[in-house]
Amino acid sequence: MNHKFEIFPRVPLIQQATPFLPLDRLTELFNVSLWIKRDDMNGVGAGGNKVRKLEYLLADAKQNNASAIITGGGVQSNHASTTAICAKRLGLKSYLALVAAVPIENEHYQSNGNVFLNQLCNAEIKRFPKGSNVNKCIEQYAQEIEKLTGSKPYEICMGGSNVIGSLGYIKAALEIASQMKAHGIKFASLVHASGSAGTQAGLIVGFYLAGADVDVLGCSVVYDKPKISQMVLELCQQLSQLLGITNVNWAEKINVNDSYIGDGYGLPGKATWESIDIGIETESIIFDPCYTGKAFNYLLDLLREQSSLLRKNTIFLHTGGMVGLMGYQNFTQKIQSDQSLY
Ligand SMILES: Cc1ncc(COP(=O)(O)O)c(C=O)c1O
Repeated sequence: MNHKFEIFPRVPLIQQATPFLPLDRLTELFNVSLWIKRDDMNGVGAGGNKVRKLEYLLADAKQNNASAIITGGGVQSNHASTTAICAKRLGLKSYLALVAAVPIENEHYQSNGNVFLNQLCNAEIKRFPKGSNVNKCIEQYAQEIEKLTGSKPYEICMGGSNVIGSLGYIKAALEIASQMKAHGIKFASLVHASGSAGTQAGLIVGFYLAGADVDVLGCSVVYDKPKISQMVLELCQQLSQLLGITNVNWAEKINVNDSYIGDGYGLPGKATWESIDIGIETESIIFDPCYTGKAFNYLLDLLREQSSLLRKNTIFLHTGGMVGLMGYQNFTQKIQSDQSLY
């Protein structure tokens, strides 16, 4: 069924399937069979979900004879730094439009973590003020570069979440489906952080293609439920059109929870930090405060309330974010003293 999928050009940045492992201690605590898919450990830079999208996006850039690429995101965007790293691998220059999307002004957030990594990769950066639309900033910066250099860099939208980038998570779903099979898992629910919709849409369409019985539970970290659901739906429709899939009601496969956004995108609350703590204490796995920490908090709450959304086998998709964590150094002391977190 997935033969058509194989025709899309891909730059193989990830050399092997990422680990699919049991979460033994949490399984014992909650009496549900829990697994983790470690896309944070894909072997490229600091790992993370964007590498999978970039395998397809950069292949498209190459096909378009690009010598430079441009993308953008928040100041601590994992997507931006991962793009800069992967571009290096292919000898492409990178430009990044970084928007002050998160109201954290301290020095760590503004210059450590992904910002530092961008510098190491020699990416050219232009910063934009709070409230700017990331995709518009990318376009504006691309036009400025074209005026200066005579050629426009290949544009990658926010989060790499267009139809081409989302192919990466179709491939991931096929990989998870075969790992489930190898472990004798016939059905599951999968919890993950949902930001710009490409990961969730790719997973939904990918599990459909694989014929795998997996409920995808997205934990929104940016948008409210109607908006992110619509974004996921549109991408599922575009993907199915590209792949020639007909007669599937994608809307009924979309499940998002928007209760974990807390004070906003990139702003972790106490419960997020407590969840990060639990991840380290139980499984020695490190989650980040912007994406996976919030999604893991969602998983823990589902487990605590024995939610019917969780099936007997549950998979947590670790989408990365470790580098962004380094921008949040100020937070831990403040949590202990219960002062304002920002
Ligand atoms: C670590 C991490 N997890 C999850 C996501 C969300 O992925 P998507 O934008 O495809 O929804 C991102 C996006 O930037 C991310 O950096």
